[in-house]
Amino acid sequence: MFPSKYKALVVREENGKFVRQIEECSIQDLPPGEVLINVNYSSLNYKDALSAIGNKGVTRKYPHTPGIDAAGVIASSSNKNFPEGEEVLVTGYDLGMNTPGGFGNYIWVPADWVVKIPEGLSLKESMILGTAGFTAALSLYKLELNGLNKSGKEVLITGATGGVGSLSVLIFSKAGYNVTASTRKIDKSGYLKSLGANQIINSNDLIDQGGKALLQKKWDAGVDTVGGNILTTVIKSLKYGGSAAACGLTLSNSIATTVYPFILRGVNLLGIASAETPMDLRLKLWEKLSVEWKPDNLNAICTEISLKELNEIIDLMLEGKITGRILVKHGI
Ligand SMILES: NC(=O)c1ccc[n+]([C@@H]2O[C@H](COP(=O)([O-])OP(=O)(O)OC[C@H]3O[C@@H](n4cnc5c(N)ncnc54)[C@H](OP(=O)(O)O)[C@@H]3O)[C@@H](O)[C@H]2O)c1
Repeated sequence: MFPSKYKALVVREENGKFVRQIEECSIQDLPPGEVLINVNYSSLNYKDALSAIGNKGVTRKYPHTPGIDAAGVIASSSNKNFPEGEEVLVTGYDLGMNTPGGFGNYIWVPADWVVKIPEGLSLKESMILGTAGFTAALSLYKLELNGLNKSGKEVLITGATGGVGSLSVLIFSKAGYNVTASTRKIDKSGYLKSLGANQIINSNDLIDQGGKALLQKKWDAGVDTVGGNILTTVIKSLKYGGSAAACGLTLSNSIATTVYPFILRGVNLLGIASAETPMDLRLKLWEKLSVEWKPDNLNAICTEISLKELNEIIDLMLEGKITGRILVKHGI
């Protein structure tokens, strides 16, 4: 049984401006899927903030409910693999982009987007991780596939106080790597050390201003969430055979590099595209996140808010002012 109405954060385009507010919506108006989920928790990701301000690269049509992450209980299902009452999560695919997303109390999605909550994770923990944790896990998986191994190797994580950044610091340090966290928020050094970072550097000092094609070899691997000059510097500073996982663009969507790091040092630039990860790899990574890669202190990076409080937090995220993960608890 499920109600006919539910609450959601709706973004509307009005006279060229994007306004957002909590509205009462009708389940009958959701595009019909196979699995209707009563969302207990969702989380805020940078892509949601872009969707909420009308970024047409993320969301083409408004009114729209963002939220690329959702976890909850199945309220109705036409797929026998996903019965009513099952606890599940959805991250990525088209959720929250052009399909009404996790910032509503109900989502209706295709069954092949749905992941059963793995044993070892609660619904809440699955959303503290969410797309950010999944992206950190995908980065670790791809870096190890490309030769990174656990013998105390040097890993640089940029945008370290953000969602992907914080979870990368937690997960890579737990996996045994020597983690350097790069941040603009040097006053958050204590926070980053508590997550397992061994060194903290100011991201302004990291950026190369000299323009040389190659820089001193420093890192075996990098996880980059900011792009631009920072990713360029990371690529130029990788050791022979090292790899950079390109995740994000909070600084810039472009990089300027010669081919020298690739043809003289054999470095790899690895693309991280969490939303489209095939289901077999998705299940494998959620399994790892629930056991061997599960961070010990997930609550330490999480601020819990209600749907009503999302509005102003979205603006803070766009200003780069968020530390850790914003967990949205529904129904409060
Ligand atoms: N490829 C994928 O599958 C995937 C998945 C998830 C996210 N992403 C992308 O990864 C990025 C991070 O996402 P998120 O959800 O973790 O966002 P977030 O929580 O807002 O974190 C972003 C961090 O980037 C840094 N930052 C922000 N603006 C900056 C600027 N102008 N210059 C330098 N650093 C800046 C800040 O870290 P400091 O203050 O510590 O420097 C900030 O905390 C976004 O671009 C997002 O779209 C990609």
